[in-house]
Amino acid sequence: MIPLTATTCFLIAITFLALALILLDHLRSKKTAKNVILDDHVLPEPPGPRPWPILGSLHILGRYDVPYKAFADLVRDYDCQVIKLRMGSVPCVVVNGLENIREVLTIKGHHFDSRPNFARYHLLFGGNKENSLAFCNWSDVQKARRDMLRAHTFPRAFSARYNELNQIIGEEMDFMINHLDSLSNTNVHAKPLILHSCANVFITYLCSKNFHLEHDGFRHMVANFDKVFFEVNQGYAADFLPFLMPLHHRNMARMAHWSHEIRRFVIKNIISDRVNAWNGVVPEKDYVDCLINHVKSGSEPQMSWNTALFVMEDIIGGHTAIGNLLVKVLGFIATRPNVQKVAQEEIDSLGIAGNFVGLENRRSLPYVEAIILETIRIIASPIVPHVANQDSSIAETLGTSNINIQQNQERHLHLPQQLRAEHVHRSMDVAREIHTRQIRAKRKVTETGTLSTVRRRSEVVHGLQTRAISELRDPGHVTEELHDNAGEERGLHDPDWEPCSA
Ligand code: HEM
Repeated sequence: MIPLTATTCFLIAITFLALALILLDHLRSKKTAKNVILDDHVLPEPPGPRPWPILGSLHILGRYDVPYKAFADLVRDYDCQVIKLRMGSVPCVVVNGLENIREVLTIKGHHFDSRPNFARYHLLFGGNKENSLAFCNWSDVQKARRDMLRAHTFPRAFSARYNELNQIIGEEMDFMINHLDSLSNTNVHAKPLILHSCANVFITYLCSKNFHLEHDGFRHMVANFDKVFFEVNQGYAADFLPFLMPLHHRNMARMAHWSHEIRRFVIKNIISDRVNAWNGVVPEKDYVDCLINHVKSGSEPQMSWNTALFVMEDIIGGHTAIGNLLVKVLGFIATRPNVQKVAQEEIDSLGIAGNFVGLENRRSLPYVEAIILETIRIIASPIVPHVANQDSSIAETLGTSNINIQQNQERHLHLPQQLRAEHVHRSMDVAREIHTRQIRAKRKVTETGTLSTVRRRSEVVHGLQTRAISELRDPGHVTEELHDNAGEERGLHDPDWEPCSA
């Protein structure tokens, strides 16, 4: 008899374990295949590739540099706008086409308003993803958090808060330009400066605090937010293959450390004085007043300090998204002098020489706004998929509960070398039309009393606009742009353009 060494025993055990997992996987996928009857209709499952054991269809995505290209090819291969995929152990549906995306986000928003249950999201937010504004499922607490934020994050045009925001942005611009002037003829790292200014705009507006460029703690906090933002925006195989999570142990520990440092800064420099000074409901001048009033007065739904601080950090952390977006905008236009020229002409035509452009000029600057929207279209991250909370349908196919809904943003389309005026104006018209339609839908639903579910969807206009622009853009036109610039085109898959956290 051949003696069994420890290595042989180990290999045999691994082989049996792998076979057991494959069998389990096979049995599970057989069990989940079903047709559901909804409102007397038999809903077929959407078509899609047959998943491999364990990996599901991740091997297909692995062949592409960005998932959107895989999604687009699958649509072509299966001749269907809605595709079923299994990513590792997670069943997913990829939704293409504006009508179908609208069905998920707006018309049946309340069927699809949960978020994936990835272990990473729990680890990132103190062990419970419900602490996060973006990764939580819909709940009364989320509704309260969103309602409290509304007045501060969507100020009505020319209201007092809107004018205040405009003034804060103007002052930060003033500081940044003066700082750059004082450094003329020296190399400057643009990103830290831009992030600092954005963070100050957010913190001055939301918390009535302002920090100087030399403030070490603030600089550290801004850098920590940027690192967390980068990590949050990554898509990890471990999200779909949870048994790989232990491999991220060190990374998760680093993130917990950064988040902890952010929390320490926020408590010490922003919140604690205000909390200690509170001795009864105060008039709400900023978002901190609003949050402290809610927690201290024990308003319903009750919110713990922990939850309130996570909301605070989530919303302050929005500065990282904006700062990184601005860095990308600058990066894109730096190598496109034609785009810069048209944007400058548009700004000059305002006739406000010597003054900064303000929010009040937005409507007169469609080209500048389209540059920003175009950049958002390219860099928008697909990290916040929706999850169905009940059996429902998308485009007459099954969108059953616990399925992750991933929208295809066709992100692989390039930023054209020449952003033509008519092209840009079309993008703007489309974005406005979608916005108007959403607001109309919201009003209609308000009348029928189910506002909360639709509010969540319709107010995240920026997400839908981004997708809408990509969806409604005439594909022939984009192809034509790409041909125009053959050889010179630099898109996302060009390493020089890979944005990472930016
Ligand atoms: C470059 C700018 C930004 C981009 C491209 C972006 C993109 C997105 C996208 C695509 C979603 C998912 C929408 C959905 O699934 O319906 C989302 C959700 C969200 N974003 Fe942003 N975002 C940006 C800036 C911000 C900022 C500055 C903040 C905070 C101040 C913020 C806070 C949120 C929140 C709280 C959600 C979750 C909304 C919900 O589900 O209720 N975002 N964002």
